[in-house]
Amino acid sequence: MDYKENFEEILIEYNLEKKPVSVDFKKLVDSVKFTERATHSIHTYTAKLIPNIPYYFFNNSFFVSDRAKVLDPFCGSGTVLLEAKLAGLNSFGSDANPLARLITRVKCNNYDISKLENIKNRLKKDLGNVTSVHNFIGNKSFDFWFEKHIQVQLASIKEVVSNIKEVKYQEFYLLCFSNCVRKVSKADSRISVPVKLNPDRYADGSKLKISSLKKLDELKSISVFDKFFEIVDQNIKRVENKSFISNYRQVGKLVSEDSRNLTPLRDNSIDLILTSPPYAGAQKYIRASSLNLYWLGYNSLGELDKLNIGRENYKKDEYKALKKTDIKSADYLLQKIFDKNPLRAYIAANYILEMAEAFKESARVLKKNKYLVLVASNNVVCNYEFRTQEYLKEIILKLGFTLECEMVDDIKSYGLMTKRNKTASIISSEHILIFKKNG
Ligand SMILES: C[S@@+](CC[C@H](N)C(=O)[O-])C[C@H]1O[C@@H](n2cnc3c(N)ncnc32)[C@H](O)[C@@H]1O
Repeated sequence: MDYKENFEEILIEYNLEKKPVSVDFKKLVDSVKFTERATHSIHTYTAKLIPNIPYYFFNNSFFVSDRAKVLDPFCGSGTVLLEAKLAGLNSFGSDANPLARLITRVKCNNYDISKLENIKNRLKKDLGNVTSVHNFIGNKSFDFWFEKHIQVQLASIKEVVSNIKEVKYQEFYLLCFSNCVRKVSKADSRISVPVKLNPDRYADGSKLKISSLKKLDELKSISVFDKFFEIVDQNIKRVENKSFISNYRQVGKLVSEDSRNLTPLRDNSIDLILTSPPYAGAQKYIRASSLNLYWLGYNSLGELDKLNIGRENYKKDEYKALKKTDIKSADYLLQKIFDKNPLRAYIAANYILEMAEAFKESARVLKKNKYLVLVASNNVVCNYEFRTQEYLKEIILKLGFTLECEMVDDIKSYGLMTKRNKTASIISSEHILIFKKNG
């Protein structure tokens, strides 16, 4: 199906009043079952974009033609890259989180199913022979999150998977391993950042108390090997499912770790940008992935966080003075936030300045007269509505774009939000802003 006509109608409606047109993407694109489509569910990730949105734009001759090149500078778990590939387009991405990059690579790679099966059988044998981890020691933090027998089994899996020679096959199994980590930990699965399950928090007899007690009890005797191979089987099915519908010739490729430097991409080389950006302090991508990242061998999460736009960790002397952003409406609000909480004002100001750098780089690589689609919400900082999408709009317009259309979708469930934080949260209504780079 080509959504061109549908978009042209939306455009007419928008141009009548220049007000966001209300669209329900789940209803508009309802012929595809996305949860089990191809490899979308190969690994969990915080605040994934609903695939209905990229599907709409990539199956739309208003925006793309054959072999168009698509970019998502904040690609997260690769939803946009995978949908581009499935639509027969070439796609490029960047993300600051190594877990996100691993998911994206595995999601978009082509695999030989019989080779995956052979490796699986070899791993089963190898796991029977692992001896070196029997005296696995771990550390205090591991003991906090994992039962001892679970740590030993995880270390065993890590060891045999690390011996897989061919990188892309090793990565497939590392991803299955990573997906297992959170499931066998004591972290509460309802919260994106790791928070230990605590049955005492809930009333006696309540559903949550019963389920937390049950989970903690199961962990005492769970076989991590069984859980791992269960995930492997599910993921092999997903890869097989993808191979039926995917176009093998198209690339889905990562070009960098930082959207502010997309050097491998030439000036004016991209036909369409579609992205959902990070937020100021509202999503903690590195922290949400911390258990996975530790087990994947990343020990310095503080270092990884430094690349993250919207990060929260700053030293006291960094936020003594308020930073100016040159975005008038933002600077007014930042002053009010600064009076209440200088750190929060610094986080938000830095966010705006770093997003401006990222969009400057996106503008460089996009062809003239082509589109940038931004999917963004507003969020709350210190109880003030922080109009993220308005500020990003102003940044993009300053870079030589015209706003062509604006849609709004009241998204009901949008990944795992960080709702525990009273100072920063996201308002669940998505704005889809469509900009055209001036010729
Ligand atoms: C809203 S999420 C994207 C989710 C993605 N659309 C998906 O479906 O999984 C925003 C992403 O921006 C990434 N990010 C933050 N700072 C970045 C930077 N400097 N360069 C590239 N990515 C960054 C975060 O790691 C996070 O994965």
